[in-house]
This record gives sequence, C-alpha cells and structure tokens, in this order.
Amino acid sequence: MAGIFGDNKFKLGLFGVNCSASCTFSNAPERWPAEWDEIVEVVQLSDRAGIEFTLPIARWRALGESYVWRRSFETFTQAAALAALTKNINIVVTAHVPLIQPVYAAKSIITVDHVSKGRAAINLVCGWNAQEFAMHGVHLDGDRRYEQGDEWVEIFNKLMEGGPDFDWDGEFYHLKHLTTDPLPVQKPRPPIISAASSSTGQDFAARRADVLFTAVHNYDATRETVSRLQGLAAKYNRKPAIFVETAFVVRPTRKEAEDFYYYMAEEHADPEALAYFQSRKIETLASATAKADIEVDRNIVENMRNPRNGSQKYAGHFPGMHLCLGTPDDVVEEMQRMHALGLDGTAVVMLNYKNELPYFIEEVLPRMERAGLRNPFKGA
Ligand SMILES: Cc1cc2nc3c(=O)[nH]c(=O)nc-3n(C[C@H](O)[C@H](O)[C@H](O)COP(=O)(O)O)c2cc1C
Repeated sequence: MAGIFGDNKFKLGLFGVNCSASCTFSNAPERWPAEWDEIVEVVQLSDRAGIEFTLPIARWRALGESYVWRRSFETFTQAAALAALTKNINIVVTAHVPLIQPVYAAKSIITVDHVSKGRAAINLVCGWNAQEFAMHGVHLDGDRRYEQGDEWVEIFNKLMEGGPDFDWDGEFYHLKHLTTDPLPVQKPRPPIISAASSSTGQDFAARRADVLFTAVHNYDATRETVSRLQGLAAKYNRKPAIFVETAFVVRPTRKEAEDFYYYMAEEHADPEALAYFQSRKIETLASATAKADIEVDRNIVENMRNPRNGSQKYAGHFPGMHLCLGTPDDVVEEMQRMHALGLDGTAVVMLNYKNELPYFIEEVLPRMERAGLRNPFKGA
C-alpha cells in the first residue's frame, strides 16, 4: 500500500513547497522561490520516488516585510492541479477552520479526491496570526479556535457519510439543508491531519485527526510526547500516525553539511521574519502562549523568544522544526532514532527543493531501504 497510511515504517512528505522560503527563516539567495513549474517538478519527482505526501502551508500574507511566505499558492486549487499531474503521492489541502466553511471544504476536497482517485487529505489548522484573518474580516479567537474546530469536523464528517439532508444548529454554525454529492472515493473520508502544539490543540488533534504533527526537541521529551499523544487518542478510540517536520541538510561530508547550514541559517538568517512570526503569534495567542503548559509548546515558545537559548542553534532555523544534518548515512541514522521514538514519519523542508531533492532521492532513500525504514517503491 502506498501513501500516508502505507507500509513504509518511516514516511516522508514535502512540506510547504507552495510558499516562498518554505519553512526556513533564511535570506540565502537560493531560497525556495515557489515558482509553479518548479513546484510541479519537485512534486512529480517525489511522486515517482514514492515519497508519500505533499503538505502545503495555507498562508494569506508574508511574514512582515520579509520574503518568507510573501508568495504562496492557494492549497485547494493547487491540489486539484497537482492531483491531475501525479499518480501516487497523497495530495494534502490545508484549510483554516475560521475561513473555510465545512460544506465548501467538503465539496472541494471530494473534488480533489475524485481527480486524484483517492489520494486527497486535509490538514485542518485553526490559525495563529490575527492579521491574516483580519484580511477576511474574521476575528480569530485565540482561546476558542479549537472549539470551533470540533464543530467544524463534526459537520464535515457527517457530510462525508452521505445520507438524508440535515440542518446544523450549533454554537459556531447555523446551517440548513446540508448535503453533498458525490461522496469521497476514500471511505469513510480523506484523512484529517492536525499540527497543533498547544495542549488544547493537541487534545483536539487526538480527538479528531488521523495524523498528528508534533515536534522533536530532545529525545526523552519526544518519547514522552508521543506516548502522551497516543494515550490521549486512545481515550477517543483512535490510533493516529504521529509525524514531525524536519529541515534536511544532506551533503557528501558532514563538514559540507555543517558549513551549508551555517551559511543558510546563521549568515543568512532572516531576523525580520522571526521577529514578525514571534510578535504575531504571541499577540494573537496571548493567553494560550502564556500558558504554554506542555513541553512541545514551551520549547517552541522559548525558541521564538530567544532562538539561541532554545534547542536550536541558529536564528534562521524555524522554531519547532527538527534538523537532520550530515551525510546520507548520518541522516538515515537520525531517522532510525526518530522511528525508535515512535514517530511514523516526517515532513521535509529544504532550502531549495529543486537543488537538494534529487541528491536526497538518490542517496538517502536507498539507505532508508537498506535500514528497513522503507521498501523499494514499485508505484501504485
Ligand atoms: C506541519 C505543520 C503544518 C502547519 N501548517 C499550517 C498552515 O498551513 N497554516 C497555519 O496557519 N498554521 C499551520 N501550522 C500551525 C499549526 O496549525 C498550529 O497553529 C501551531 O503548530 C501552533 O499550535 P497551536 O495552534 O496549538 O497553538 C502548521 C504547523 C505544523 C507543525
């Protein structure tokens, strides 16, 4: 079986190729430009190599004046295009709960599921930057966003089941005559992904998602986080896959990888992007961030406030992003450790996917196969 629930022990996905600079706070001139033809090229390359998914970032504006996320493609419409241009890879759409109404989202993702013949998935995010929501005239309630998310998922799931028309009279939604046709190819519905790091957000993810994203910061804490998430999900009779996001810097020698990482994340760190990210997130989620009552969240908040005192080394490294750096052998060893912590895979970030992905596919994937983390890819 291919895809996000396939047989590979450690799965991989492209992260953020629809946005300029993806998830790096780097000003290095070769940073990712998010040109459409290059996006198609790296997604098709991944599709042919058996990489399991492509996960876009839903964004409406740049990080302040910075290049990071200045340019981004909308995720539902690009998913329909990518679905038609690929054969194997799971195509994820990312929906902001406060912006995309569940009836609209259901019909859109069902469209992608049919175009892709059952490869669609949805990443549900509840928002962290009030400025993006103000662009749509929507107030983002930092404290209640996941309560709205709960109701959103209930409506979405009910639509996906089919059956007679229904009305919905909840706290956040008052909707009449709900129905959708066709139903999705995947049953009961395309997978739901959630990537929350606060305790309320992770509780929501455990209740509602089939794939949870968390962060690696130190191994003991990650092991504990994975078992806490599994325990939370078990209370709701769920057994989600658990993923993280990782920046990869892979070079023939460790020294080359270290030098390149220093170049991209320290010499070319983009302090404006970090400052904006920090100020928006802390302002929007003032009360939630002040709580930061679980280790994952504390670590991210600490890295945002003071990048060099947190678990990351350079200011151009995205807060909460794990790092796999070194030779192909080094990064495969690190992925073995990640797998041993209970992680099912990672979303992959690179400074420039077009430059770096071919080497990763040629040198890292075969080593992962030899290490038992992946099977040779035979196509769907
Ligand atoms: C893998 C991953 C993907 C994410 N994608 C988006 C996105 O596309 N848009 C967005 O606004 N937030 C995105 N986020 C942010 C999360 O939805 C979430 O708001 C953040 O991790 C903070 O957690 P909290 O909401 O529980 O405070 C993503 C986070 C991760 C780890």
